Amino acid sequence: RPRVLSGIQPTADSFHLGNYLGAIRQWVAMQDTHDTFYCVVDLHAITVEHDPKLLRRRTRVSAAQLLALGIDPERATLFVQSHVPEHAQLGWVMQCLTGFGEASRMTQFKDKSAKQQTDRVSLGLFGYPALQAADILAYQAAYVPVGEDQRQHLELTRDLAQRFNSRFGRTFRLPEPYIVKDAAKIYDLQDPSAKMSKSSSAPGGIVDLLDDPKVSAKKVRSAVTDTGREIVYDPEAKPGVSNLLAIYSALAGRPLAALEAEFDGKGYGDLKKAVAEVLVEFVTPIQERVRGYLDDPAELDKVLARGAERAREVASRTLARAYDRLGFVAPA
Ligand code: TYM
Repeated sequence: RPRVLSGIQPTADSFHLGNYLGAIRQWVAMQDTHDTFYCVVDLHAITVEHDPKLLRRRTRVSAAQLLALGIDPERATLFVQSHVPEHAQLGWVMQCLTGFGEASRMTQFKDKSAKQQTDRVSLGLFGYPALQAADILAYQAAYVPVGEDQRQHLELTRDLAQRFNSRFGRTFRLPEPYIVKDAAKIYDLQDPSAKMSKSSSAPGGIVDLLDDPKVSAKKVRSAVTDTGREIVYDPEAKPGVSNLLAIYSALAGRPLAALEAEFDGKGYGDLKKAVAEVLVEFVTPIQERVRGYLDDPAELDKVLARGAERAREVASRTLARAYDRLGFVAPA
């Protein structure tokens, strides 16, 4: 079975619809066909200023959400990044291979650093993509299910793997991004030219999975739509309507063409109402399951400990090989 790795940051109290439709939905689907490794990337979460109490809570809430959304720890290896020290160790190696210029070109770095005072932008934020490369390469992953916004980091990961392989001998598998077309980018409901984002969307533009379903339904009903009246999937001409159609299609498991036919002759209000309904139906049982997992944190921590153990077996083998190739003397 081809190996898969992906990660998500525990930087908010809830995942949003973009995280789910762009990435986690694919994580769930790949469990039966791939050898899957999924991690909550807490090391990445400290690249910007953070509150330790919040991080601890959000790491557990993130893991609980992944389980509630369908990640099955019997089939997938679910773990917390800091439990597997090989990520940080291989991350250092990757930093040493990354050029200052190529790190400076990362758009996520440019966006995030622009929002902070310059003396607060950490080396960790700058080196973030090298750590992400290590996350992936440590598992020799063939595929990395992510949203479109991660494509550039995946390209860097491939470059670093290739660079290491050609300098020191073949060690890492070159991973491929796995990006599902129609949900590759879910847009802000209030500004369909921008992606839905925990760090930059206004509250009205972002649908959090753990928000009160009534609030989420209202956000959908107040979504910005486009001029004209027809309900057609045309992201260029109709970004607002197309975003709603993409969300509906993914949540209801129905093709876009079928939805266009269903809404032929109907109005934007009908579409919003239908999306709001399917969204409420989707999040309500998820929230219940999340509460269940959080009610028993000891059991949750046990699941994560088992995942970390399995992950370490794989990551430590890769690290040992990389260290050897680099010329590190192995401890006697
Ligand atoms: P993060 O935590 O920002 O987002 C998690 C996943 O959600 C996807 N995503 C979206 N997809 C579609 N539309 C959107 N509006 C949207 N917003 C977010 C992201 O593409 C991502 O797949 N650097 C990563 C975390 C990471 C990682 C890794 C990913 C660390 N190490 C190794 C893969 C492999 C990040 O910040 O994702």
